[in-house]
Amino acid sequence: MNADSRTRLNQTPEWTALAKHREELGEAQLRDLFAADPGRGSGYTLQVGNLHVDYSKHLVTDETLRLLRELAAARDVFGLRDAMFRGEKINTTEDRAVLHTALRAPRNEVIEVDGENVVPAVHAVLDKMAGFADRVRSGEWTGHTGKRIKNVINVGIGGSDLGPAMAYEALRSYTDRDLTVRFVSNVDGADLHEAVRDLDAAETLFIIASKTFTTIETITNATSARSWLLTELKAGQEAVAKHFVALSTNAGKVADFGIDTANMFEFWDWVGGRYSYDSAIGLSLMIAIGPDRFREMLDGFHIVDHHFRTAPAESNVPLLLGLLGIWYGNFHDAQSHAVLPYSHYLSKFTAYLQQLDMESNGKYVGRDGQEVDWQTGPVVWGTPGTNGQHAYYQLIHQGTKLIPADFIGFAEPVADLQPGLVAQHDLLMANFFAQTQALAFGKTPDEVRAEGVPEELVAHKTFKGNHPTTTILAKELTPSVLGQLIALYEHKVFVQGAIWNIDSFDQWGVELGKVLAKRVEPALTEGAEVGGLDESTKALVAKYRELRGR
Ligand code: F6P
Repeated sequence: MNADSRTRLNQTPEWTALAKHREELGEAQLRDLFAADPGRGSGYTLQVGNLHVDYSKHLVTDETLRLLRELAAARDVFGLRDAMFRGEKINTTEDRAVLHTALRAPRNEVIEVDGENVVPAVHAVLDKMAGFADRVRSGEWTGHTGKRIKNVINVGIGGSDLGPAMAYEALRSYTDRDLTVRFVSNVDGADLHEAVRDLDAAETLFIIASKTFTTIETITNATSARSWLLTELKAGQEAVAKHFVALSTNAGKVADFGIDTANMFEFWDWVGGRYSYDSAIGLSLMIAIGPDRFREMLDGFHIVDHHFRTAPAESNVPLLLGLLGIWYGNFHDAQSHAVLPYSHYLSKFTAYLQQLDMESNGKYVGRDGQEVDWQTGPVVWGTPGTNGQHAYYQLIHQGTKLIPADFIGFAEPVADLQPGLVAQHDLLMANFFAQTQALAFGKTPDEVRAEGVPEELVAHKTFKGNHPTTTILAKELTPSVLGQLIALYEHKVFVQGAIWNIDSFDQWGVELGKVLAKRVEPALTEGAEVGGLDESTKALVAKYRELRGR
């Protein structure tokens, strides 16, 4: 379907039908929906790979779901999905294919871009990464002075940082505990300072991760890391080869930086930054967990890719999650979406999803170049659940905003937890289940009174409930399960972008800030007169210089 000739989303009959249905449902209560359908708790569930997905605590009926699926059909979500998997250039503003799914394709699959099968190249890089990771892990790869590498520092930002940093935390129990793995992203010198201050340069490998190899934060940090290394080793440029490798699509810039392109691991322009951690960008993770575990993770991604591509709409989990987001964002005016993992290992999971979702769907211009007049991507936020319970859950329970939330938990604690700590897992998960129950069903004034609460406190202790949640439960957090979870969210974001008719794969909105930062810097350092500064920014720059004694 030609996007330009599409009817505006909010003028389609499917949209109008959903709006009418929303009015009819009014303030439908989850208590009533469950009372009307005793099978809802087990019936409103789906399975994908190892993920059990319960959507019973949502403000939906069978009719809501049917109407949402009709909207997806009318917007040809599956047509765009197939075009993506086929390698068509669905990232129209950058004229690029969108093929992160090829990164986890089995060796024998054929996926073509511009008539060329990309799968052999993907596996060639994976094999090269595996060879390198094994050499570092075994001690065969040594630093300039012959010492074994004990520290690995990934230098990158955005998609070249968040993915490997998140996955390293998530899979810590699978990592080689003798290796120190750190991630430097912030151009604030404190980040690199803290990362290297207690390390022996002779034992340290820097992985410079940048798709473009032009990102100023990364190149600045990489340059500082190189100076630190050469100063510490009292060595010349020849030491760089054993301590710096690059992950990039830009061989020319990698060579300009002084890294031997033999030590470069490539990927391709059809891998978006925020979809790249299962490409060469995952090298630090592969060194930490080993190539076999990395492959298990890729296979987990592939399980969900296959499901998204083949499952019918009624049982297609990414489609369902995408549609639920549309229901709340577009028909309940929800502004945000919380992702609340009940696993300490997923402490960076939501931060990772912020880029995936907000950089993909935070857009007000549609594929047709017209401004949309419907809500697009939500604010995605959250931290591990139990900590959140003692911070912001108050607002979710009793605030004035509707905040749909995903609860992610695991039946088993990680394998290498000390036996004494294993017992805590039931308490963790008791909180997990209790919270979604409390959010959904709340506590009525009568229930509060029955507890003997004085009348003047009844309103304060009443919970209205009706806060929608999805529960995602798996047996344990393995590399495969992590891959499954990430692919699930990738495709959910895809579904929403397809319905909103936006290009989820460009990111023009981050450009202006980058350009202005370059323009402002000489004003800070040299007091240069730079054009185009507004009065407020000029005054702030002057104050900054005064505070720095310049
Ligand atoms: O924030 C913009 C962005 O282009 C992201 O999409 C990307 O992940 C990040 O910058 C880093 O880019 P690069 O890998 O090219 O350094």
